[in-house]
Amino acid sequence: MRISVFGLGYVGCVSAACLAGMGHEVIGVDVNQVKVDLVNDAKAPVVEERIGELIAEVVGSGALRATGDVREAIMDSEVSLVCVGTPSEPNGSLCTTYLERVTEQIGAALAERGGRHTVVYRSTMLPGTCLNLLVPILEKYVGGTVGVDIGVAVNPEFLREGTSVRDFFDPPKTVIGELDAASGDTVMALYEGLPGEVFRVPVPTAEAIKYADNAFHGLKIGFANELGAVCQALGVDSHQVMDVFLADRKLNISPAYLRPGFAFGGSCLPKDLRSLVHAAQRADVSVPILSHVLPSNSDHLQRAVELVERAGRRRVGMFGLSFKPGTDDLRESPLVELAERLFGKGYDLKIYDANVSLSRLLGANREYIETRLPHLAQLLADSVEEVLDHAEVCLVGTRDPAVLSALPHGDGPVIVDLIRLPDAETRRTEPGYMGLAW
Ligand SMILES: NC(=O)c1ccc[n+]([C@@H]2O[C@H](COP(=O)([O-])OP(=O)(O)OC[C@H]3O[C@@H](n4cnc5c(N)ncnc54)[C@H](O)[C@@H]3O)[C@@H](O)[C@H]2O)c1
Repeated sequence: MRISVFGLGYVGCVSAACLAGMGHEVIGVDVNQVKVDLVNDAKAPVVEERIGELIAEVVGSGALRATGDVREAIMDSEVSLVCVGTPSEPNGSLCTTYLERVTEQIGAALAERGGRHTVVYRSTMLPGTCLNLLVPILEKYVGGTVGVDIGVAVNPEFLREGTSVRDFFDPPKTVIGELDAASGDTVMALYEGLPGEVFRVPVPTAEAIKYADNAFHGLKIGFANELGAVCQALGVDSHQVMDVFLADRKLNISPAYLRPGFAFGGSCLPKDLRSLVHAAQRADVSVPILSHVLPSNSDHLQRAVELVERAGRRRVGMFGLSFKPGTDDLRESPLVELAERLFGKGYDLKIYDANVSLSRLLGANREYIETRLPHLAQLLADSVEEVLDHAEVCLVGTRDPAVLSALPHGDGPVIVDLIRLPDAETRRTEPGYMGLAW
């Protein structure tokens, strides 16, 4: 393919050289003449493993050249990759100035060119930037409609500086946010032959994935370092701890606990986080990540309260009360905490949890409920129907099949989904449905 690459920084330079190495015909564009001249002299404008040899090779063979002339690059290509910087503004917000300028320039050149051209954004940008900010600029300058005259895709970049050439040829994944299938097909063709799973998703999803990745990477490093500092203060070798931690592929290095859902609770996580943070504080070790886990959890619980408030109705039904399915344990159950917050705000509450009702009948958890939560004990219903008959708003906090199959669609009570119901994807478009974090 004939490709123009806008921005010859780390991402653009590596993408341009590697695509040229795959046999594409590539023209790099940068506003910085020094970078343009370096590439044309077969020298890399960035320091990276293998990039020097690769640039020398592809510039030597004529597969890659550079220019400062946007019009020339657009006339000579059918796809443009945008790799300009998106730095932070002083207040932390994302600077989109370079993206806007380059989109205007590409649009103005495309207005002269005619024929379909696909603009692929590789720069990191917040969800909504492409469709709400850049697509209108393109349409204004080209005078055409995106999806018809112009293809648009977001193809975030997951290379690590230092090993980016290696990562390009062996990527962890390829993510294509496609405005239409033809745009996505064009991006697919760019990387034909490369390994790794390809994900074709809506444009804002592709934008968000990059943030999910980077936020998680930062969080992992911060977690490991804080834990290391606490271990050190307690006289424990943190690397020995993490060797064992990392060997657990069921609960630790695994998809477990990584889907947005309801707040956590139970008799272990809150207690153990509290005592770990307390031990760190006693040892004068600052652990801002660990000490904000419980406040974060409490804020998440509050989101459920706010959804009920937003529904604007007083009669609330709640499905689920124990801290997780298949148990009647109510100690530190986040659903008990939620029920108490709603009760405190004067909502007319009815609660159904099959395990709790059963344990009440058997007397197992009876004492706990009747002594610690007497106000909630009175709110317990004996059947799903009793709650549905009462509720104008239904909070669903259990996967009990009897509950799921009874939940109405459409005109019934507002459904506040705390667990991501199995049919949440279709319900999301229905009025009267509220997902907690989706
Ligand atoms: N560096 C990384 O490892 C990495 C990894 C993944 C994603 N990203 C993202 O990729 C994007 C680019 O990052 P980078 O590190 O390559 O940035 P960079 O600052 O190294 O390079 C950006 C280049 O764009 C050029 N430029 C600016 N406006 C231009 C225009 N109108 N026309 C042509 N060129 C123009 C600049 O002169 C510069 O050379 C950012 O959004 C970044 O967040 C970077």
